[in-house]
Amino acid sequence: MSKLLLINGPNLNLLGTREPDIYGNTTLKDIEDQMIEFANENGIELSTFQSNHEGYIIDAIHDSRTKYAGIILNPGAFTHYSYAIRDAIASVDVPVIEVHISNVHKREEFRHTSVIAPVCEGQIVGLGIMGYKLAVIAFKERLSL
Ligand code: DQA
Repeated sequence: MSKLLLINGPNLNLLGTREPDIYGNTTLKDIEDQMIEFANENGIELSTFQSNHEGYIIDAIHDSRTKYAGIILNPGAFTHYSYAIRDAIASVDVPVIEVHISNVHKREEFRHTSVIAPVCEGQIVGLGIMGYKLAVIAFKERLSL
């Protein structure tokens, strides 16, 4: 079975209680459980990882080299300034789809820039937690998993 890794970055551990008007009421645990089930229904095994620490996210991207066919990544605020995460993605031969729950383009100016996007396969923005599922579908279709 093909394997994908779902990585959620800083503050996303607080989903469910964090700014629910922007991010909704679903907890990260519920999202991860739903995603594992959805991926399985699509013949894909999915692992999940969340960290508030840039270095741990970089380590997870490096470690994915031998283990995963692709990464679904919500880098949180690191999206907007982490050249280190961008370089990690560029350093490994694992395709990454960037996902944002909120429509970052409707929000503050600093959220309009993603330094990660140029090294990703694609970006899904503003479609709520459905964006994570759409990334699974995109991997299945585009990367022939
Ligand atoms: C986010 C958008 C980021 O700007 C923000 O810092 C987050 C969440 C999203 O999923 O909409 O933490 O990545």
